Amino acid sequence: MTKIRAAITGVHGYVPDYVLTNQELETFVDTSDDWITSRTGIKERRILKGEGKGTSVIGIESSKALLEKTGTDPKDVDLIICATVTPDMPFPATANIIADEIGAINSFSYDIGAACSGFLYALTTGSQFIETGKYKKVLVVGADKMSSIINYKDRTTCIIFGDGGGAVLLEPTTEEVGVMDSILRADGSGAQYLQMPGGGSRMPATVESVQADKHYAMQEGSAVFKFAVTNMADVAAEIMEKNNLTGDDISWLVPHQANKRIIDATARRMDVNEDKVMLNIEKYGNTTSGTLPLCLWDYEKQLKKGDNVILAAFGGGFTWGSIYLKWAYDSK
Ligand code: ACO
Repeated sequence: MTKIRAAITGVHGYVPDYVLTNQELETFVDTSDDWITSRTGIKERRILKGEGKGTSVIGIESSKALLEKTGTDPKDVDLIICATVTPDMPFPATANIIADEIGAINSFSYDIGAACSGFLYALTTGSQFIETGKYKKVLVVGADKMSSIINYKDRTTCIIFGDGGGAVLLEPTTEEVGVMDSILRADGSGAQYLQMPGGGSRMPATVESVQADKHYAMQEGSAVFKFAVTNMADVAAEIMEKNNLTGDDISWLVPHQANKRIIDATARRMDVNEDKVMLNIEKYGNTTSGTLPLCLWDYEKQLKKGDNVILAAFGGGFTWGSIYLKWAYDSK
């Protein structure tokens, strides 16, 4: 029997208009453009402004544009998965809000929370529904409004994160393209280094918890950095080995955009030249679940059918993983 694979048949991203530059951050916290650029590679990030605007705005805008671009009737969408750590609210799921706004009235929808690896988790999960033959059109969204959980007095986090994301459409194919393999990992003992302690069931919001800044993301940057450098590079190398791929076989590395130094280390480990590494950290920073679809969107025109693409990420949880896919179309 011919194997059904899940092919990405379109991608679209969305970033808000407001640009928060390193120079503007210098006016909030004790930092400098030079420090941020040399330690992270980030020059600016986008911020979603406006009362009542949550992560769903990013998902809705990217999904609407994606459906239009691929000529897809929203009524034909079977499933929407939204990877995010900044849902509009604890419930309903942000994916439900996106489905309603885009008119996907025949779909079911749910969120996945795996921080910076969220898009990998969602893409893998969405692919399974296609590969089993159960569904024909799955929207996978990765989006975060990180500015809603960032303390703009904390220089160790506020310089890194930004708002944005994107969406891909998954459809079945019997050609040798699409999602070929994935490796997903998690280690909950990493929670101590990267978490948002308040606002969940363990520490519901109180005046005291808000005053103590417990509703912001906190990170022990150098500890996370060490885990990220090792694990993201390892898991990218592992999926290459498993699929008999060398650096020369790789057309594109699509790395999570957390820190340029982590990306460089991953590319070195994979023996992949820097001109094959998708990079947009300079203009968007770390948009958590949003970085991978945003990269694919930025580089879509350069992608060719049959290209070997490796996606890799590491983030809160800890969570990490890699996906090997063969790009399914030439952009017009
Ligand atoms: N500006 C100026 N100085 C700073 C800043 C800043 N914004 N932040 C920290 N410093 C100082 C520190 O106080 C320290 O000073 P000291 O030496 O006098 O004590 C010095 O710079 C070095 O600090 P480190 O924390 O060791 O800096 P590092 O090189 O590790 O860079 C960073 C920090 C950028 C956060 C890095 O550790 C990193 O990228 N970590 C990984 C991030 C990541 O991958 N996160 C996972 C994804 S996020 C998610 O899943 C939600």
